[in-house]
Amino acid sequence: MRGSTIELPGTSSAPALLDPFGRAVTYLRVSVTDRCDFRCVYCMSEDMSFLPKRDLLSLEELDRICTAFVGQGVRKLRITGGEPLVRRDIMTLFRTLSRHLESGALDELTVTTNGSQLARFAQELVSCGVRRVNVSIDTLDPDKFHRITRWGNLAKVLQGLDAAQAAGLKVKINAVALKGVNEDEIESLIAWTHGRGMDLTLIEVMPLGEIDGQRIDQYLPLSEVRRRLEARYTLQDLAERTGGPARYVKVAETGGKLGFITPLTHNFCESCNRVRLTCTGQLFMCLGQEDAADLRAPVRASEDDAPLNRAILDAIARKPKGHDFIIDRNHARPAVGRHMSMTGG
Ligand code: 5AD
Ligand code: SF4
Repeated sequence: MRGSTIELPGTSSAPALLDPFGRAVTYLRVSVTDRCDFRCVYCMSEDMSFLPKRDLLSLEELDRICTAFVGQGVRKLRITGGEPLVRRDIMTLFRTLSRHLESGALDELTVTTNGSQLARFAQELVSCGVRRVNVSIDTLDPDKFHRITRWGNLAKVLQGLDAAQAAGLKVKINAVALKGVNEDEIESLIAWTHGRGMDLTLIEVMPLGEIDGQRIDQYLPLSEVRRRLEARYTLQDLAERTGGPARYVKVAETGGKLGFITPLTHNFCESCNRVRLTCTGQLFMCLGQEDAADLRAPVRASEDDAPLNRAILDAIARKPKGHDFIIDRNHARPAVGRHMSMTGG
């Protein structure tokens, strides 16, 4: 079956990409590199092998694919990795993509980063039209930070945060909830983020890719975290949804926003509006499934965008209904073999 397009009233002239379940795909996440300057224990093994450079899409090819999606109705782009800001000349991509913000074809260009390079790039991101960034920080304890990220330096990330806020970027902090590691710190993370005018999103660990330890040992259900927080805080459900997995509450005591990404305790697929492009041009229609469509071949085969546009439509027509993540003792293997750094977090 072919994907279909319809005109949505009052939004833009671009058609909407519709999947077989009637969900409009308006959000593309783009992993621009599988490399990272950290080695977070839940994300990578210490000894990772990365893709050879020739397999990567060039910055021009990335721009072409993003532009084709924008032409087909995508309104939001998120640049991720790996760590996107370690890719050489990555600002060139932000710069060229910013033309779609200027034309009004795109609502938002955002980035998910570990923050290590933010001090260097915050200002330039703003000049390319980026207004919001997601920064991953699982702990405020420098030693623990080093243990979780293996190679990361908390002080440097905090400098990056300062630079981001000084440049006027709105910051959301992502923290993966890790059993016995940062579960005692959730309240201090709330106080710290909300005290600095940042939102906080907690993430359940997902079974993506081989790591050195066991997922079950890391997995902390957020339903449990929420129950504990409710003993101390008043959590008011917010209706707001981003079409993504996060559910948000307002913490009455701090006035700040807290998100829960709960792929395991709560299924969120029915409202999914996104697809993910890897740095080699594979399009994943679902984070939790192996099926992917190759967009690199049509990009490299022709300068004409028609084959690329057709490949996008065909891919969206294959978007599955949902994922089937399970973490328990009987499911020791990852649900999918690739790491988060491949498809982008
Ligand atoms: N499960 C959950 N979150 C993960 N991240 C990386 N790997 C995993 C995983 N297996 C998170 C990072 C970052 C975001 C991009 O994804 O910590 O916050
Ligand atoms: Fe790098 Fe992010 Fe993976 Fe950590 S979670 S190793 S920062 S890509």
